[in-house]
Amino acid sequence: MFNSGIVSRFSQLETPFYYYDLGLLRQTLQACQTAANRYGYHVHYAMKANFNEKVVSTIQSFDFGADCVSGGEVKAAIHTGFDKNKIVFAGVGKSDKEINTALDADIFCFNVESVQELEVINELAAAKGKTARVAIRINPNVDAYTHHNITTGLEENKFGINTWQLDDVVAALGKLPNIQFLGVHFHVGSQITNLEVFKNLCARVNELAQWFEDKGLEIKVLNVGGGLGVDYYQPDTNNVADFEAYFKVFADNLKVVEGQEVHFELGRALVAQSAALVSRVLYVKNGQKKNFLILDAGMTELMRPMLYQAYHEIENLSKASEGSHIKYDVVGPICESTDCFRKDVELPESFRGDLISIRTAGAYGEVMASGYNLRDKIQSVYSE
Ligand code: LLP
Repeated sequence: MFNSGIVSRFSQLETPFYYYDLGLLRQTLQACQTAANRYGYHVHYAMKANFNEKVVSTIQSFDFGADCVSGGEVKAAIHTGFDKNKIVFAGVGKSDKEINTALDADIFCFNVESVQELEVINELAAAKGKTARVAIRINPNVDAYTHHNITTGLEENKFGINTWQLDDVVAALGKLPNIQFLGVHFHVGSQITNLEVFKNLCARVNELAQWFEDKGLEIKVLNVGGGLGVDYYQPDTNNVADFEAYFKVFADNLKVVEGQEVHFELGRALVAQSAALVSRVLYVKNGQKKNFLILDAGMTELMRPMLYQAYHEIENLSKASEGSHIKYDVVGPICESTDCFRKDVELPESFRGDLISIRTAGAYGEVMASGYNLRDKIQSVYSE
C-alpha cells in the first residue's frame, strides 16, 4: 500500500487524512465479483461501510448493487448511478419520509424488520398507487462469535423478526395488497472470520425458507446479508479477503431451487483494506511508566478502537522498522481518556512530525467520523 514515492508525497500534505489505494480497491472488487459470478450470486455493497464518493463510484463501476440503511443512502446510491433494481433498503427504524424516498425511487426491495413496518409500507405504497417489494428480515438466532457490539442475529438483538412471530407475518402478508413478498433476509453480524458461522446460517436459512414454502409463499430472494471479516493483523499479506472460500460455503450449504436468487450485502470486506488513516505525531511524552505518542488524529477520525476495542496495525512511515523499538500508547488529541488507538505499541523511536499510519481503516472509518470538539472534517487522498 505504501512505497517511498507515496510517503514523500504525504510529507507535503496536511494531516490527518484518509488515504485510499484505489488500485487495491479495484483488485478487491474484482476478486469479489469473479468469485460471486461463479455461482450467479448478486452482491450489494453495504454503503454504510464507506460512502466516500470516489470509493462508492468505483464500486458502482463494477456493477454491484447497493444495500442502504437510510433515505440518505438511498439517495446517494441513486445519485452515484446504482441501478434502482439493485438497491435494497434495510434498517430497524425506517421513517415514513425514508420509506417514501425509497418508494419514489422504485427500489428493488425493502428488508422489513417488523409486522408494524409492513403495515406502514403498505399504507404509504397505497397512497402512491404503488406496490412495494419486500423481504422479511428474520432473526435466525445464529451466534456470529464476533464482538458483542457488532452481533446482530441473536434473539437479544433488536434486529429482524423472531421466528415465533412468523405466523403473524404470514397473516399480515395475506391482508396487505400493496406489498409483494419476495423472500427472506438475514444478517448475523460483522467481522466474521470463522466461516462455520455462515455454514450455520445456511442451515437456518434452508429451514426457514422451507417453512415459508410450506405456508404457500414462494421465495424468490434469499438475502443472506454480509459480515465477511478481514485480517486486521497482517494488512500487507492478506490484503484481499478470501471471497472464494466465503461464497463456496454458501454454494455448498445453501439450498437454492430453480428461479431463486441469492443476494449478499458486503461492506467491510470490500473496502476495509484499501485505506489507511494517516496522521502526524504532534508530541511525544516520555513518562516513568508510559510513553505517549500524541497524534493529530483521534476518535473523531477513527472511532473503532475506542468503541469496539478494535485492533488496527499502527506504523511509523517516517522511520525504518528495523532497529530498536519503544513501547508507546498511541493516543489522539481529544479531551477523553478513551481517545487511545492502542496501548503498548512497539514502534521505532518516534518524534514530532513523524507520519503514522493506522491501517485497514477503509470500513466504518471515515463514515463514523464526528465533529466532536469542533474538529475539522477529515480530508481524503487517493492513489490510482
Ligand atoms: N447488512 C446489514 C443488514 C448490516 O447491518 C450490515 C452491517 C451489513 C449488511 C454489512 O456488514 P459487513 O459486511 O460490513 O460486515 N461499525 C461496526 C460494524 C457495524 C456493522 C453494521 N451492519 C465496525 O466498525 O466494526
